[in-house]
Amino acid sequence: MKSSISKPTLFLPKDGEMPLGRLPSSSFIRESGMISLNRWQNLAISYCEFDQAQFSQSLFSELHIKFPEKLNQSVTKRKAEYLAGRCSVQQAFQAAGLAWEPPGIGRHGEPCWPAGINGSISHSKALAVAVVSKREDYPFLGIDVEELISQNVAKQIQSEVLLPDELHLSKSIKLDETEFLTWVFSAKETLFKAIHKYVGKYFGYECAQVIDFKLESGKILLELTVNLAPGLHKGRRFTCITSKLSDHFLTLIASSG
Ligand SMILES: CC(C)(COP(=O)(O)OP(=O)(O)OC[C@H]1O[C@@H](n2cnc3c(N)ncnc32)[C@H](O)[C@@H]1OP(=O)(O)O)[C@@H](O)C(=O)NCCC(=O)NCCS
Repeated sequence: MKSSISKPTLFLPKDGEMPLGRLPSSSFIRESGMISLNRWQNLAISYCEFDQAQFSQSLFSELHIKFPEKLNQSVTKRKAEYLAGRCSVQQAFQAAGLAWEPPGIGRHGEPCWPAGINGSISHSKALAVAVVSKREDYPFLGIDVEELISQNVAKQIQSEVLLPDELHLSKSIKLDETEFLTWVFSAKETLFKAIHKYVGKYFGYECAQVIDFKLESGKILLELTVNLAPGLHKGRRFTCITSKLSDHFLTLIASSG
């Protein structure tokens, strides 16, 4: 059954203008823009559709994005995703009126944001998204995009991603099983990105549980099942916003604390 989750509004360019938060399109960047998810203040969310087949190393300097040494040995797919992710960050910075300072890569793979800035990045094969804010506005910020998980993959990962109570919840929600799994998987990855910097170590999908999934408003309520860090105790809740972007599942956590 189809979900009733609404599509985000995209800011469209005015005639002949290159609006803030839109990159010049090229063979690599096919389309880009800002995403408006109602009622989020002081938050710049951007997307960028890209074509891996058109990637070339020279794009890094052309697009003013520093090539990280860590990617020296990476395959083209990874370099293209990284570049598209940073392009998305760049347009979010521009839309937020922030001076462009490309985030580096931290010890755990996390983006290293400039002082006072918080953000998050996600990419699939052909779509990258980024969210940026002042850290004081949203100390917890995470974003994720996923393609629908296939039935084969669902069989392999379901028991790792879903807790027994979540399986139970899935039965009462009018969504296909794979769609439910995709949303929950994405929401938990978003939570990981939003709080990992405070936890400082890896934690698995069993550390948070979906306790409510409101299809109408597109909200997933997550609760921590364990004490992860000071202030991130068992029972602490985070609201995750869901939205469809093209064929992708987009989830976002933006919490002021
Ligand atoms: C780190 C992880 C969340 C990334 O998600 P993914 O679906 O593999 O990939 P995405 O494209 O969505 O995101 C990749 C981006 O995440 C960001 N990222 C990586 N590690 C991160 C971390 N520790 N904290 C915050 N962001 C991180 C990076 O910006 C990366 O892109 P980049 O390398 O191009 O900069 C995932 O690989 C992972 O380890 N998940 C298991 C942990 C988990 O989710 N537990 C559930 C907790 S309830």
